[in-house]
Amino acid sequence: MNQDKLIKTAQAMVTGNKGLIAMDESNPTCNKRFAALDIPQTPKMRLLYREMLITTPGLNEGINAAILYDETVRQKLSDGTPFVKAVKNAGIIPGIKLDMGAKDMAGFPEEKITEGLDGLRERLAEYSEMGLRFAKWRAVITIDDGVPTRRGIVNNAIILAQYAALCQEAGLVPIVEPEVLMDGKHDLKRCFSVTEHVLHTVFDQLYKQRVLTEGIILKPNMVLPGSNCQDQSNTEEIAHATVKCLMRTVPASVPGIAFLSGGQTSQQASERLNAMNANYKSEMPWALTFSFSRALQYPAMDIWNGKEENSKRAQKALHHRAICNRLACSGEYSEILEKSISSANERDLEFL
Ligand code: 13P
Repeated sequence: MNQDKLIKTAQAMVTGNKGLIAMDESNPTCNKRFAALDIPQTPKMRLLYREMLITTPGLNEGINAAILYDETVRQKLSDGTPFVKAVKNAGIIPGIKLDMGAKDMAGFPEEKITEGLDGLRERLAEYSEMGLRFAKWRAVITIDDGVPTRRGIVNNAIILAQYAALCQEAGLVPIVEPEVLMDGKHDLKRCFSVTEHVLHTVFDQLYKQRVLTEGIILKPNMVLPGSNCQDQSNTEEIAHATVKCLMRTVPASVPGIAFLSGGQTSQQASERLNAMNANYKSEMPWALTFSFSRALQYPAMDIWNGKEENSKRAQKALHHRAICNRLACSGEYSEILEKSISSANERDLEFL
């Protein structure tokens, strides 16, 4: 294992108050989002959409790295440039989603287990050859009466650790993503205790599997009340609970923590990330950044709507979110800046 290479890549993914764009939706997930907007669900449209995203001028002002999907890394842009090369040309590090999705866990009908370990060493060799420098694996944990069980948490953590070890063996940085879902009626306290248990178990298994913690990125959920909880908590409470949970469980050797957005609105995700960095940056040993899919992409996807003539406006919206989140990583984001950058973007559009 080339430890130096892994450490340098992991640091480069989270440096400079910048983050990641997750654009690695599986075909069924991407199709579902397209269907909601009446966009045709074809490989060509998925390519055109992702081409629009990655050719956004100045995207690397807020984004260090992009997580891609298997279909995309085999596609070419309209001008014939291979997609992975286009990502590099944009000054962005390309990576790949490796898991094959969360399936029902046998014997535990309310829980999920993520598949994709079989043949992973061979897939990693191919992706490494293609120039991909990091990978992602998502485990899904649901909160409800009686779940998650200890078994569900441990099984998912063991698989995350095996995936991470295989990635490091192949020279790719593993993004370790144990997502505690925000669906449900549970409160902030319950999300805290489940997330604490999950992260503690994940780092225990990473240690047992001999994974180099300096060469991973953690991609967790923020600690949030369930989406159907009466008490939605305020930004400061969420920021405090999330940082406290991470400080208890994540070793200082991990270079960066990049949150998923999980169904929060774009502004909520930026506000909460900002509050964590504004209030606690000096106490935190790791970079605290973002690896959002929906909270970065949704405004742009709505505008694009499958039409080439909307591309420039959609790219402005994506660039706007990337800059807002960069500001959130330094604790400088505010509602005023959200609006002022937005209206500056509108003015720029007049000259396009
Ligand atoms: P969201 O930001 O939409 O939660 O997606 C992040 C992700 O990559 C899920 O695996």
